[in-house]
Order: sequence, then structure tokens, then C-alpha cells
Amino acid sequence: MNHLPLVAPLSLYGPPCRLHCGVARLFVLNTEIVPANHPTAIERAAKLLAAGELVAVPTETVYGLAGNGRDDRVVATIFQVKERPFFDPLILHLPDKSWVERLSKLDPEREKLVAALIERFWPGPLTLLLPKSEQVSDLVTASLPTVALRMPANPVLRAILRKGGFPVAAPSANRFGRVSPTTAEHVLEELGSKIPLIVDDGPTKLGLESTIVEPTGSKKLLLHRPGPIGESDLAEFGPVETADLKGSIKAPGQTPSHYAPDKPVRLIEKGHVPADAAEAGLLAWGQNSQRSQFRVMFSLSESRDLVEAASRLFSLLRAMDREAVAAIYVEKVPETGIGKAIMNRLYRAAAETRGNVKGEK
Ligand code: TXA
Ligand code: MG
Repeated sequence: MNHLPLVAPLSLYGPPCRLHCGVARLFVLNTEIVPANHPTAIERAAKLLAAGELVAVPTETVYGLAGNGRDDRVVATIFQVKERPFFDPLILHLPDKSWVERLSKLDPEREKLVAALIERFWPGPLTLLLPKSEQVSDLVTASLPTVALRMPANPVLRAILRKGGFPVAAPSANRFGRVSPTTAEHVLEELGSKIPLIVDDGPTKLGLESTIVEPTGSKKLLLHRPGPIGESDLAEFGPVETADLKGSIKAPGQTPSHYAPDKPVRLIEKGHVPADAAEAGLLAWGQNSQRSQFRVMFSLSESRDLVEAASRLFSLLRAMDREAVAAIYVEKVPETGIGKAIMNRLYRAAAETRGNVKGEK
């Protein structure tokens, strides 16, 4: 094949080789990273997907672990590669809007609301939870009656989807419970040796996963996951309510501990210096005058720009995780606009050590 992908360091593990074990091909000992602008990158990714392989793809939010969403064998492999429990459903990424009709079953009332949301926000970082049609497999939805649909905006992924012509199931390309990847290198860290190809389109634009919303029959919008599309944008279409996920497996990705680096994450108010600061790292909001008191400090955004902070958050969590620090302190950001989504991810990243944020979601 006429392409010159960068062969990732994982080729160290041996020559290209695939072990077939039951439904899953879990070990592809040679993961390639191909630049998105390589002349054959799109075609190659689409061909691999059509052949039932998994490919890590860029989206405008985070990198996704993509596979043919109409092939249960492939969908099962996604769960295995990601080490994700089967009760946690996947988002289908669509080549075009016409798929909504095939994959969902909408009453006329909801149809109007959904059409308006799609018109406004697609392609883009809005995932819609809709009653599923028979065409969607129970494996994708974890047997839930709803299916999560999204039409991504990243032009490379859109081209791959158009070439493939089928919906692609794609969770974030990280191992279950860990920080979502916003660069191809992050994907390699998470899943290298388990997938044949990563399409590298540089750092993702937004850096946080899509907003997940369930339009209800009564025109309410249930917010399942805050994200780049904010509540105020959604409010133009109907009252927005935060979905009550307690005691339900409706959005298991919303389990308390998620987005977790290896080091403990603790949330602090701006300017606070904890007792163990000298051994700890700080992700600061804006500039921080106490920077010399921490072992390492990175700023989420020196100019206190929430959009910039969102785009850097996961990358900086990973970078801090690699530093010689015992804990990662993160200064809280204002919960306005995308700040709400940032804090949602941070509360979860801190979930295992969340004495300081008790009771918060
Ligand atoms: O931005 C994104 O949405 C990224 C990129 C790759 O598109 N994808 C992503 O997928 O974040 P994932 O699988 O990491 O997160 C999807 C979330 C999970 O929390 C899952 O539980 C929830 O969506 N979800 C999927 N289908 C659902 C359904 N039918 N009902 C409730 N929640 C659902
Ligand atoms: Mg995820």
C-alpha cells in the first residue's frame, strides 16, 4: 500500500502480527500513526473500518475508538479493547443526518424538536439520546431503549464516515475510567498495541466530550452530560433539566469516578496552598502567585479563558501525572458556560479522593 505512516514506538514489541482470539483481536502488536493529511489516511481508515477493524479517529471533542456500529462482533471488540463494561452504551457517529430516521423512532412532537436541534448543532459536539429503532443493536445501547447519536464536525472524521457509509460506534479512545485522549500520542499511551491505526489530526479543538441531551416528548431537554454546547444554547429549544442519574445505569459514563489520572486529584479554591504543596502539582486557573510553593505548576489558561482551559484540561492532567508529584491540585474554575463541563470532569477525576468536594456530582 502506498503510504508512509509513522510507525509508533510500539513496533518495538515485534513485527506486525495479529492474534485472533474468539470475537476479539485484542493484540495488534504494531500500531501505526498516520497523519490525517496523508493522501491515503482517510481511505485507509475507511477500509479498515469496513473490514471490521478498529481505528482511532480524531473528532472535534476527543479522539474516538471507532468501529462499525452495525457489526456486533466489532462492537464487542470495542468494549474489550477499552476494557469497558458491557452495560455502558456507545455513541453512534453518523455519516449524515438521514441516518437519524433509520436509527431512531420519533413521535411527531419530538421529531420537530429533534429536527430543530440537529439543524442548529450538527455537525458538532451535541449527542442526542433518542428512542432507538430495531436497526440498532442492543450491544450498542447496552439494552437501553434509547440510542446516542451524533454527527461530528471534524472534517477528517466526516470524510472517513462518508467513505464508509455506515454509522460508527466510537467511545473516547482511552481505557475505561481514564482521562479522554486529545492527541494521537494520548491514544497510543492508552491503547497502543491493541489497534492497527491512529489517524493523527493534532490536538482536538474542543478538548471535552460532547454534550449529551435527551429531548423528551414534553419538549424538555434532559442534560445527561454537560459539554461544549452549553445550557444557555440549549435553552432556546426548551427547558433544560439535569437528568437524574441516581440509581440508574442510564449513563454509566457518569459514574462518580471517571477521567482519572494515576495520581490523586484534589480540587481547591483559587489561591489556596495545601500543606503538601511542595510535593504536589498545581493546575492553576489564570496566573498563580503561589507557584513557587508547588513542585510543578501549569496554568489551564493564563488569561482565564474557559474555552482554552477546556481544550487543555485533559492534556495537562496527563502531563502532570507524568511529573514527580504526589498529588494533583486543580483550582476550581467558574461554572459558567463550558466551565460547567470542566468542573463536571474534574469532580469525577477527583472522585476517589473527594473529601473536599463531598456531595457534589
Ligand atoms: O465527544 C464525544 O462524545 C466522544 C467522541 C469520541 O465522539 N465520545 C464519547 O463517548 O465521549 P464515550 O463512550 O466515552 O461517552 C459516551 C457517554 C457514556 O457516558 C455513555 O454511558 C453515554 O454516553 N451513553 C451512550 N449511550 C447512551 C444511552 N443510550 N443512554 C444514556 N447514556 C448513553
Ligand atoms: Mg469516555
